[in-house]
Amino acid sequence: MTESTAEQAETFAPPEQFAATANVGADEYERAEADYLSFWAEQSRDLVDWHEDFGEVLDWTNPPFAKWFVGGRLNVAYNCLDRHVLAGNGDRVAINFEGEPGDSRIFTYAELLAEVSKAANTLTDLGVRAGDRVAIYLPMIPEAMISMLACARLGAAHSVVFGGFSADALRSRIIDAEARVVITADGSYRRAKPTSLKPAVDEALSSGDTPVEHVLVVERTGQDIDMTDGRDQWWHDTVGQASPEHECEFFDSENPLFILYTSGTTGRPKGILHTSGGYLTQVLYSMKAVFDIKPESDVFWCTADVGWVTGHSYVTYGPLAAGVSQIVYEGTPDTPHQGRWWEIVEKYKATILYAAPTAIRTFMKWGEEIPAKYDLSSLRLLGSVGEPINPEAWRWYHRVVGGERCPIVDTWWQTETGAHMIAPLPGVKSTKPGSSQAPIPGISVDVVDDTGENPAGPEGGLLVIRQPWPAMLRGIWKDPERFKDTYWSRFPNTYFAGDGARRDADGDIWFLGRVDDVMNVSGHRLSTAEIESSLVAHSKVAEAAVVGAADETSGQAVVAYCVLKDSRDDDGADLDALVQELRAWVGKEIGPIAKPKHVFIVNELPKTRSGKIMRRLLKDTAEGREVGNTSTLADTSVMDAIARQLRD
Ligand code: WTA
Repeated sequence: MTESTAEQAETFAPPEQFAATANVGADEYERAEADYLSFWAEQSRDLVDWHEDFGEVLDWTNPPFAKWFVGGRLNVAYNCLDRHVLAGNGDRVAINFEGEPGDSRIFTYAELLAEVSKAANTLTDLGVRAGDRVAIYLPMIPEAMISMLACARLGAAHSVVFGGFSADALRSRIIDAEARVVITADGSYRRAKPTSLKPAVDEALSSGDTPVEHVLVVERTGQDIDMTDGRDQWWHDTVGQASPEHECEFFDSENPLFILYTSGTTGRPKGILHTSGGYLTQVLYSMKAVFDIKPESDVFWCTADVGWVTGHSYVTYGPLAAGVSQIVYEGTPDTPHQGRWWEIVEKYKATILYAAPTAIRTFMKWGEEIPAKYDLSSLRLLGSVGEPINPEAWRWYHRVVGGERCPIVDTWWQTETGAHMIAPLPGVKSTKPGSSQAPIPGISVDVVDDTGENPAGPEGGLLVIRQPWPAMLRGIWKDPERFKDTYWSRFPNTYFAGDGARRDADGDIWFLGRVDDVMNVSGHRLSTAEIESSLVAHSKVAEAAVVGAADETSGQAVVAYCVLKDSRDDDGADLDALVQELRAWVGKEIGPIAKPKHVFIVNELPKTRSGKIMRRLLKDTAEGREVGNTSTLADTSVMDAIARQLRD
């Protein structure tokens, strides 16, 4: 049996009961294809509460700059909160928060509306107005979502910076976005001990040349922190005292909702800009079609941190706009024990779980007897996101977590796409372990060869998106040229995603990983260039090359090759110390997730005659493969020397 027929043989039809009650049926694909603009207009009017209806569905007269739902006015926070309360669902639980130490807090929709109103009133007092930017540097606590929604309510864009990023990373994002206010916490609980956040904010702002006027500090751990007079205020002294009434204004469909920085192929992170009406439409449609949300009965749990796009679309905006109850968990899956996730599923009777393959692979390693101790029978649908899910992990997820009764939606999308793009509709498709299968209705993608003109052959090619989509990024913050260059210059009028993919004989899509210098470590995007520039900023490093090497658990691991400025540093026991120093350096410069798993000190890097580093060869070595074709190297002995050094 050839590989592709083996793939096709193993499919899982939707359970009968699931298909019978699914929100969306097979006819939706055809309806969307017949007229995708009318389809999206219909979805938008159906799912979003527009204060003023839109006229034109899409303005694509100046590609790649799109305007969706032109002239419409809405408030995204109103859609997430007020409308549910006005519809009589104020008593429904919006957030079941579970802190790592075991504390829990519950917010109904009415309570969450009051909290968001208080935060919006406080931000107004601090001078935040529509069109401003607010940086949010918080752990996974309800205040993160409350802060995001308070910004949305005021028409100010938030820029959430993942709490695991360093002071430097925070500082550059604050400056690029020109944020006037930072919202942070003293710290949070991670692996059973308090970690700190506020000192990183102090360091980021220490030079005094940032646009930040105010810092709001949530008390989470009670640890000792410095408060700067005139700049820093406690959340409980301000938001805690503010009025819970806030009348919201309505903004243009294209009003910026958020900027989220993500790694690209060059050193500097890109500020991906999302706006309001189109983003909310597609996020809500994916909640309905891909997650099959039934707001009255589902308990949704997306395990992502709000520091990533998955947390924006499927922790904050999607579930709340859909009016469903959800779970938010602060900590790690193994604290205080390796059954923590399953304990949470059991406690809150989660019906939908959305997680990354790297987590699934970790649970596989820990053993299936752990989830087996808990009652997971409330689950009815599982989701995967962030990286390709290998068929083995898919099957384990299906069998052990889903009890063979839950469809799995493997959702492909990006920070740039804002919402799901490619995923099986769970009541329609027979799913296949490892394949994301097909674009959702209203989305048009292709897998093409290098020229962009022909469909790729069976070995695969490049994923492109043919038509604009409602939740598409509207640009890179303050850098329209980079936006055009990065995504729209490779093929005319077509979005280049940077992912390799192939289609099987059924036409189903399988992802093959990035085709550029972006790495995917535990479902988190990192750029090789960004880590390289941090390494060469170290006083002892002359040159560095970073590759993402295949890793059993994290998908890819960061592996760095460094050439030292002074080869005298390069011997004996000092070398080990230096390797540790360089790893720690990257952790401090960018954040712990960027820390290389391995740092190899080498005498030379493999380069072409024109001086380009051949990362492909370094990747071969890092993955323990026979090194590929070295004929284009300026000095073909370099790879032998590296291999020899690594052996020693
Ligand atoms: C990868 C995360 C295969 C892909 C939502 C993409 C995936 C990058 C999948 C975006 C999936 C995400 N299968 N690969 N289901 N989901 N990716 O911006 O390489 O953090 O380009 O958005 O993750 O990562 P980002």
